[in-house]
Amino acid sequence: MRITLVTGANGEIGHSLLETLAASGDRKIIALDLAPLADDLRPMVSVALQGDVSDPAMVDEIEKHDVQEIYHLAALLSTSSERNPALAHQVNVNGTMGLLLMARRIGARTGRAVTFLFPSTIAVYGMPSLEKKNAAGAVTEFEYLQPTTMYGINKVYCEQLGGYMSDRFGQLTDEAGKKVLDFRALRFPGLISATTVPTGGTSDYAPEMIHAAAQGKAYACFVRPDARIPFMAMPDGVKALLDLAAAPAENLTQRVYNIGAFSPSAEEIASKVMEAFPGAEITYAPHPKRQAIIDSWCADVNDEAARRDWGWKPDYDMERAFDEYLIPTISGVYAV
Ligand SMILES: NC(=O)c1ccc[n+]([C@@H]2O[C@H](COP(=O)([O-])OP(=O)(O)OC[C@H]3O[C@@H](n4cnc5c(N)ncnc54)[C@H](O)[C@@H]3O)[C@@H](O)[C@H]2O)c1
Repeated sequence: MRITLVTGANGEIGHSLLETLAASGDRKIIALDLAPLADDLRPMVSVALQGDVSDPAMVDEIEKHDVQEIYHLAALLSTSSERNPALAHQVNVNGTMGLLLMARRIGARTGRAVTFLFPSTIAVYGMPSLEKKNAAGAVTEFEYLQPTTMYGINKVYCEQLGGYMSDRFGQLTDEAGKKVLDFRALRFPGLISATTVPTGGTSDYAPEMIHAAAQGKAYACFVRPDARIPFMAMPDGVKALLDLAAAPAENLTQRVYNIGAFSPSAEEIASKVMEAFPGAEITYAPHPKRQAIIDSWCADVNDEAARRDWGWKPDYDMERAFDEYLIPTISGVYAV
């Protein structure tokens, strides 16, 4: 059984990831979160640790488990990081550095490379203007990496740090010549879950709009109708993490991959929500700071490398995400 660490296990992605990992039954799961693990997740894990991922004493505690695979989800998201940049740096950067060093120690000690899955984000992009954003369309992994937010800066740095720690720093291989750390990052678009409502993210307007309509509540969207960034249904986000983790190392030509699914404007999301919930009351009250962040993120991503290297293909386009996943599941959640 593979020993798998999931940090930030109690969060949105953590919930879905733990459910999928537990269903496959082939892993011993060590979960860590600042908050107590939700009751429904407890039976899915072997060990539930509560504490701060950036606390060295907590890292020592995790290290005792000789983990072979790490899904490092714990982080402050974009809006929370703007509110508290020092804490964001502590958790998002120092927390990641501590785990990377721990993973290297475990890899060197056990003679097995530790696979390190890092959820990066389209917030690493910094489009210079709305005109350039609209003209650029789908951007590759290597363009426009001038993020304007603390969160984006933390993430683009950690992408680089993971590559450095895997490929260039200190002792890279064990006695058998195997790498001790295998860092792999995915740049997620805004993820929309049917079962959890996000907090602290700047892409939250899409899930908030849907969840509000399902509850019959009015919603004032915090970005303009024309605001456009990529989104993805949560099951595809989890699938991408697991597929990238399972990809043979020799197939991977880069350590950081874009993944895309659909890229609607806020208005296009609103019309899909209105189709499903005809009475939905959606208005627009753009928040200047959050709007500026969305304008700085790319309108779409080029994910050709992920498709070529490890067979990435989303199961859900926008139609299917709404018609078969979001609307039926969310309606069920609020019907009870
Ligand atoms: N949800 C998205 O749309 C999205 C998009 C791109 C990238 N990501 C990344 O995916 C990861 C998970 O995102 P999410 O949507 O599940 O976020 P979330 O906010 O729902 O969950 C994050 C979890 O981390 C925990 N946490 C925060 N600080 C911690 C600390 N110091 N120590 C231990 N745990 C701590 C929180 O309690 C929370 O349960 C994050 O790294 C995020 O940057 C998410």
